[in-house]
Amino acid sequence: MADYPAEHGGPDGGGRLVGGGADDAERAAEAALRPKRLEDFVGQQVVRGQLSVVLRAALARGVVPDHVLLSGPPGLGKTTLAMIIANEVDGVLRITSGPAIQHAGDLAAILSSLEEGDVLFIDEIHRLARTAEEMLYLAMEDYRVDVVVGKGPGATSIPLTLPPFTVVGATTRAGLLPAPLRDRFGFTGHLDYYGPGDLTRIVTRSASLLGVSIDAEAASELARRSRGTPRIANRLLRRVQDWAQVHGTPGRLDLAAARGALEVFEVDELGLDRLDRSVLQTLCTRFAGAPVGLSTLAVSVGEEPETIETVAEPYLFREGLIVRTPRGRMATPAAYTHLGLRPPDDGALFT
Ligand SMILES: Nc1ncnc2c1ncn2[C@@H]1O[C@H](COP(=O)(O)OP(=O)(O)OP(=O)(O)O)[C@@H](O)[C@H]1O
Ligand SMILES: [Mg+2]
Repeated sequence: MADYPAEHGGPDGGGRLVGGGADDAERAAEAALRPKRLEDFVGQQVVRGQLSVVLRAALARGVVPDHVLLSGPPGLGKTTLAMIIANEVDGVLRITSGPAIQHAGDLAAILSSLEEGDVLFIDEIHRLARTAEEMLYLAMEDYRVDVVVGKGPGATSIPLTLPPFTVVGATTRAGLLPAPLRDRFGFTGHLDYYGPGDLTRIVTRSASLLGVSIDAEAASELARRSRGTPRIANRLLRRVQDWAQVHGTPGRLDLAAARGALEVFEVDELGLDRLDRSVLQTLCTRFAGAPVGLSTLAVSVGEEPETIETVAEPYLFREGLIVRTPRGRMATPAAYTHLGLRPPDDGALFT
């Protein structure tokens, strides 16, 4: 049986895989750098250790592993782990996503074609249609699905027993998942931003897969300025590769190449990109330190609120550059200093 393509869009083909924003070339480059086994997955010791126990126990008992939910900001390895899970248990990976399942019927079609041991990866599971969500509860808990045949008054519902399979759900917004759905996952792993040591290992591993040599200083510079995110580290690595190419040192990535590329691509000392800086600028100068609500902030920087909330804010919070108050988001003194501004000293902060 064929895999569902990553862009499986249900019968009308209308869905799409949202979240990475990467074009085809970027996606292909990402795929080439994905670790295939759990032991090659760098960092996230806790989640990796827990997942390893879940998978090994299932293999030892000869059963399919429990359903797994992976949550965390974009680019930290949720899709990669889903693929690793399928590899480790030697199951066939079926890929779909919340937005691709518009109707319960789309999900019924996928579920009824599953075979024993398959791993069904549902990306952006928080965006599943409500009716599909209810069907998924039943399928996850009782391995059952009711397939509706026909239309109108003549329609009949045929209960179908499903073979044992594993759902791997991924979400950047675990908080949006309804409790009944969350409860049906036997294991939830939360991925957090990576430290510079792990990112250095990721950059070095990726460089060797790309067939280029990167020196230790350059690797740690990239690691430090990748927003704690492997996807960004790998993307910057390719830009450094480009920089070295056009500056006459192809395949040899040193600190000068790393710094040169980071400057050209406007990645600052903290690794903040254009969107991050624009959020900080808005809070510090446009609203002069006053608390700003999410939708106002989104309009000001010209982005969707969801992008601000899932892509920019988690890292800015974690770096202590912004805080959330009951009246809105505020920049911290560290944000002002980072932008080269003087923090307000009139007590406007955190009141
Ligand atoms: N722990 C890791 N070790 C090595 N490479 C990693 C690791 N985590 C992620 N990567 C790399 O980072 C890239 C992005 O990872 P992935 O696509 O799994 O992120 P994601 O969490 O699914 O993001 P999104 O929420 O945007 O879908 C991949 O190319 C992968 O190779
Ligand atoms: Mg993903």
